[in-house]
Amino acid sequence: MQEMTHNKSDLFGIGSMDIQGALFDLDGVLVDTAKYHYLAWKRLANAWGFDFTETDNERLKGVSRVRSLEILLEIGGVSMTDSQKEEAAALKNSWYVEYLTALDETALLPGSWEYLQRLREHGIRIALGSASKNAPLILDRLNITGFFDAVIDGNTVSKAKPDPEVFIKGAAALGLAPEHCVVFEDSLAGIEAAKRGGMKAVGVGRPELLPGADRYVASLTEML
Ligand code: BG6
Ligand code: MG
Repeated sequence: MQEMTHNKSDLFGIGSMDIQGALFDLDGVLVDTAKYHYLAWKRLANAWGFDFTETDNERLKGVSRVRSLEILLEIGGVSMTDSQKEEAAALKNSWYVEYLTALDETALLPGSWEYLQRLREHGIRIALGSASKNAPLILDRLNITGFFDAVIDGNTVSKAKPDPEVFIKGAAALGLAPEHCVVFEDSLAGIEAAKRGGMKAVGVGRPELLPGADRYVASLTEML
């Protein structure tokens, strides 16, 4: 008789038979938003009279908005009060959100849509675990909100990655124990958060930049 039940470990390739939930980081895993963050931070730096390069921008990936601003100020050698920082972060975000109006399904990274769909077809529960406060807007613009059983983002967490809060809340929202979940992450802080939370981790990117993951893929197309 033909095998009717799919072996769920095949969906992840990490040698674990009992994964029931997938927790996805957003920026850099499902969508390429780094260029819009870059444009907005650069505009701020330029307004303050210093340059901000794409190499500098690498330091901001996976980092919260407030911490990103602090790194930018460090690069420019600029200091400011907390209320000035708040104002600057709000201005950056208003530009970023303006750039996001250009975002559509074409910004999805290769394999994202197909893999989310495959996981759903196999009954895997799916949550977002992102630092971004703009996550709901981005999911909406990409037309992928419907894939997610839960969205945990910068509006719902108080501790930034590598603290595991975002993924612990994600697993809880799915009604699953951490060890039954796998996290997909492109940042070092995110991989550390997943491991500290007790989840499996798939690093999306170069292994040498993401030590500690259970598996590495260059993009989600490798998961198909
Ligand atoms: C992360 C990005 O997902 O979200 C960071 O990798 C960004 O670059 C952070 O700073 C916060 O995003 P937002 O949209 O709340 O400013
Ligand atoms: Mg990321």
